[in-house]
Amino acid sequence: MWQVLAPLFTIFTFLSSFSFIFGLSVSAFQSVPATMRFSHVLRALPALAQGANCSTKLYVSSYSGNITTFSLDRTTANVITLKNLGVTQDSAPQAAWLELNSKAKVVYGVDEAWSTPNGSITTYNTTDGALVPNSKHVTYPGAVSTVLYNGGKAVACAHYGGQVLTTWATQADGSLSNIGDFVFTQEGPGAYPERQDKPHPHEALVDPTDSYILVPDLGSDLLRTFSIDKKTSKLKELTPFPVKPGNGPRHGAFYAPTAKPGPKGNMVAGDGTYFLLVNELSNTVESYKVKYGKSGLGFKLVESHGIYGTMATPAGAAAAEGKLSPDLKFFHTSSRNATILTTPNPNPLNTTAIPSDTLQTWIPDPNTGKLTFVESAAAGGRFPRQFSLNKKGDLAAVGLQQSSRFVILPRDIATGKFGEPLASVENLGEVTAVIWDEK
Ligand SMILES: *[C@@H]1O[C@H](CO)[C@@H](O)[C@H](O)[C@H]1NC(C)=O
Ligand SMILES: *[C@@H]1O[C@H](CO)[C@@H](O)[C@H](O)[C@H]1NC(C)=O
Ligand SMILES: *[C@@H]1O[C@H](CO)[C@@H](O)[C@H](O)[C@H]1NC(C)=O
Ligand SMILES: *[C@@H]1O[C@H](CO)[C@@H](O)[C@H](O)[C@H]1NC(C)=O
Ligand SMILES: *[C@@H]1O[C@H](CO)[C@@H](O)[C@H](O)[C@H]1NC(C)=O
Ligand SMILES: *[C@@H]1O[C@H](CO)[C@@H](O)[C@H](O)[C@H]1NC(C)=O
Repeated sequence: MWQVLAPLFTIFTFLSSFSFIFGLSVSAFQSVPATMRFSHVLRALPALAQGANCSTKLYVSSYSGNITTFSLDRTTANVITLKNLGVTQDSAPQAAWLELNSKAKVVYGVDEAWSTPNGSITTYNTTDGALVPNSKHVTYPGAVSTVLYNGGKAVACAHYGGQVLTTWATQADGSLSNIGDFVFTQEGPGAYPERQDKPHPHEALVDPTDSYILVPDLGSDLLRTFSIDKKTSKLKELTPFPVKPGNGPRHGAFYAPTAKPGPKGNMVAGDGTYFLLVNELSNTVESYKVKYGKSGLGFKLVESHGIYGTMATPAGAAAAEGKLSPDLKFFHTSSRNATILTTPNPNPLNTTAIPSDTLQTWIPDPNTGKLTFVESAAAGGRFPRQFSLNKKGDLAAVGLQQSSRFVILPRDIATGKFGEPLASVENLGEVTAVIWDEK
């Protein structure tokens, strides 16, 4: 087998160097015998020569400071070709998060700034090719997540290291203007003093009615909530909800299967709205019933699961991401630092699998908010810090921080299960986020 493959490996190396020379970083493979996989590499070759005007793009941020734009081409046989369209370093040194404002054709990128006193939010114009920097806004350090709210009129940004939520109005030229900061404090350390020494807001989320902002605070074990002034987009801080001490809430998603557009076009909460929460320190996935009251959002715990479902949580695990599928039928989570599975080697000619952390599939019940565990699947490498699904929900892009790569996994829309990588890009530094831009 190895003798047969030897000449093929030479050609693969040739293709790799070809890619390198033209600034293209490409690796397409499938879980089929190496000789078959090679034929996919060959078939992918003509696509490399095509123009950059394809309708699907991916933006990838990394702690290398780079934000790289890739085009994604997909054949009917599900052969995926990724092409590097260019790099911007305007969110360096620690590009930590990306969000697309598809209406304004702008991407928000943040610099988490561990090594400098202040971080930034940079807005980027989307183009036929790579992102083009539009405007840069100096802010508190520690930015890790943004969310667009009030019909796209404003952006809220959670600063993990800066203990603050900053808010910004979006301008017609794509830039931002600050409309208020909320600096948080806490009395004494929490149950995990080394991680819960102070407030650490980890994500900013908007509720399905676009009336409230929710911020899981990992350091303070709180769900911080804010009401949105529809006229000014300014936030008003409400009474926060305390989760179980030591949970370390990180990311989550509102699940409102019965929410419907109301008379003014805004979504109106239906009978059942739930909040699905991923806790990093307790490695649990929780469901809360959300109550819309006169004084804001109320929460009632429905149930709590270990993030590995039917399996005991492995030592060292660190839960990370939580996202609903576009059809709201599945909830997906990710867990880091517990490589209990393997994934095919990025080199299609190397049959030794590499260690992989996991992504989970859960089914939320629209009537009760309860979660049924389906399975843990290989994430495609180490530390799936973040992932995102395409609009159709049949592909997932997974950012693998410690593997310095991202992968494209197939996803079965009917079962919510992930398959083995269809494509990947290596050597990107510590990948922090990968998002889709689809026409
Ligand atoms: C993309 O299309 C536009 C016209 O629609 C053209 O001007 C541009 O050169 C194309 N870019 C590439 C990279 O092919
Ligand atoms: C820079 O960060 C400090 C806190 O580290 C903060 O007090 C200051 O307001 C920030 N500067 C800007 C322009 O946001
Ligand atoms: C970005 O887009 C905005 C709005 O279309 C435009 O005003 C601005 O000139 C663009 N900036 C760059 C650098 O292309
Ligand atoms: C990963 O897990 C090991 C224990 O298995 C632990 O010692 C280490 O601190 C963990 N690393 C991170 C970055 O969480
Ligand atoms: C194949 O991959 C494994 C795991 O990454 C690595 O240890 C090994 O050196 C590789 N073999 C070859 C021939 O490159
Ligand atoms: C970052 O981008 C620069 C410029 O394109 C490139 O030379 C460098 O290799 C990239 N680094 C990583 C880790 O991707």
